Amino acid sequence: MFTFVTLCITSLLFGSSYQQMEFQVCHLCVGSLQNGTAVGYFCASLSGRVEGRCCWRQQGERASIVGLDLSNCSLRHIEDLQEASTAVMIDLSSNPVINISDSVFQGFIELHYLRLPSTLQCPGGNASWEKVTSDGVVCLCEEQKDACHQDGNMSWNCPENSLCAPDGPGFTQCSCTGEYHGYKCLREGQFPTGLVFGILGSSTFLASALLWYTQRRKAKFT
Ligand SMILES: *[C@@H]1O[C@H](CO)[C@@H](O)[C@H](O)[C@H]1NC(C)=O
Ligand SMILES: *[C@@H]1O[C@H](CO)[C@@H](O)[C@H](O)[C@H]1NC(C)=O
Ligand SMILES: *[C@@H]1O[C@H](CO)[C@@H](O)[C@H](O)[C@H]1NC(C)=O
Ligand SMILES: *[C@@H]1O[C@H](CO)[C@@H](O)[C@H](O)[C@H]1NC(C)=O
Ligand SMILES: *[C@@H]1O[C@H](CO)[C@@H](O)[C@H](O)[C@H]1NC(C)=O
Repeated sequence: MFTFVTLCITSLLFGSSYQQMEFQVCHLCVGSLQNGTAVGYFCASLSGRVEGRCCWRQQGERASIVGLDLSNCSLRHIEDLQEASTAVMIDLSSNPVINISDSVFQGFIELHYLRLPSTLQCPGGNASWEKVTSDGVVCLCEEQKDACHQDGNMSWNCPENSLCAPDGPGFTQCSCTGEYHGYKCLREGQFPTGLVFGILGSSTFLASALLWYTQRRKAKFT
């Protein structure tokens, strides 16, 4: 428990510089990004940095994953790729995966090129992509469509004072405009960031303290 708390504090203090090293998605299987693959070419063309199966691009102060190649990794389940949500190219081909939930790609708004085993469908369905091709081995989903403008009329789902924003293949979200915020964007005025984070922060602290206390008691009496 103590180690856990220490870890939490450490990751809070060193958060941003730490993250790059900690991204598990880049090390879901052995080996590193190869030059000869689609993602490899893409990475070389960007002068990206290879770490495991990931390609990182530095933009100003920020580094983000732009490519991920998990092909031929013997993956049976693919459940969490969130760390790579900034990726432009992802290769999951040559894996014995049977199904994959569309929600795995929620938030992947930059994704423009996705290779899947041909047993799988493109996330969000064929209608979420400009081009879908399959050669019986690999299914290729190219050029993600903006789900907000797909049939010209999906944005009416958003309440007043908000706009539809794409949120990955087949996904949209409503973001409040201007000064509006809160449930259904009904509140006007500055978003009380300080207050919200203050409450969040103190409740997290309380929860951790409680957890630590109960765990300690348990340890004592068992
Ligand atoms: C891959 O590319 C890097 C950098 O461009 C180069 O140093 C390396 O030799 C290449 N590897 C192969 C196997 O071509
Ligand atoms: C997949 O990996 C195996 C060994 O891990 C290798 O022998 C095989 O050539 C790879 N296949 C492809 C298409 O890269
Ligand atoms: C994949 O299929 C299995 C069995 O058909 C099912 O139990 C599981 O929930 C499915 N997973 C997803 C992510 O759809
Ligand atoms: C999507 O397109 C691919 C390739 O053209 C095709 O094989 C597949 O059956 C299509 N899926 C649906 C649900 O229409
Ligand atoms: C919006 O889409 C529905 C079907 O989903 C269709 O019936 C309707 O005519 C469309 N409206 C406009 C303005 O395109």
